Amino acid sequence: MSEAGPILELAIGLAREAGAIQRDRYGTELDIQTKQSSIDLVTEVDRACEALIVEGIEDARPGDSILAEEGSGREQAGADLRWVIDPLDGTTNFAHAYPRFCVSIGVERRGEPWIGVVYDPLLDELYQAVRSEGARMNGRAIAVSTEDDLSRAFLCTGFAYDVRRSQQDNIAEFASFLKAARALRRDGSAALDLCYVAAGRFDGFWEFKLSPWDVAAGCLIVEEAGGLTSDVAGGQAHWGGRSVVASNGVLHDAMLGVLKGHR
Ligand code: IPD
Ligand code: CA
Ligand code: CA
Repeated sequence: MSEAGPILELAIGLAREAGAIQRDRYGTELDIQTKQSSIDLVTEVDRACEALIVEGIEDARPGDSILAEEGSGREQAGADLRWVIDPLDGTTNFAHAYPRFCVSIGVERRGEPWIGVVYDPLLDELYQAVRSEGARMNGRAIAVSTEDDLSRAFLCTGFAYDVRRSQQDNIAEFASFLKAARALRRDGSAALDLCYVAAGRFDGFWEFKLSPWDVAAGCLIVEEAGGLTSDVAGGQAHWGGRSVVASNGVLHDAMLGVLKGHR
């Protein structure tokens, strides 16, 4: 087992346990509340999954730092490891019983992405990556697509929760890619969208204003599957969040070119 082994196993176990909660509660009546905007939802399942994951890490690794979307994490001075957790990515989908959501757990070591785990509980698809050790889905190695022509590309994006009031609403970029690519999707779970790039299902993905927990695991999984990630200007993106462009690598410059037309 590599050095990452025990941490990876802990992350996988917690992602599967949280995923089991999501599977059980999928399609049942939920307590749905709003956060920063009226379209930014949170349910008791988001909170239950986060509690399970954070408690599991605290029990096994009391010295590690934790950044978790719903706020139950904590910084530990001098910690080598930081866990970056989206307990339920795709809450709007989950709240509407649309079957596309996941658990996302990233681990950084001394500030660098090290481990990523994303679990889709309905399809029972477990994506994992360790830096320099490749990416896998349900144990099998995965790789990005080889598509080299944007006009044949199958792309995905997302829209931030401030879309009603923000100038940077991704609509002009969406329109440009709609004309340039074969087809676009807005599937509602950035972490899974990134894993679909890693698995070669999507050829590329872009989105503005993402948070670290949306991309922590997924960007590492894309890179370990042979893809590229950057911000919309081509600089380093992953882990810090904000804008992300992820691709099979071959299409990266073409995607950045379309986005540049709107900056
Ligand atoms: C959201 C999803 C969505 C993306 C949003 C995210 P949440 O995360 O990943 O696809 O477009 O920007 O905030 O709120 O479901 O965890
Ligand atoms: Ca999210
Ligand atoms: Ca979430």
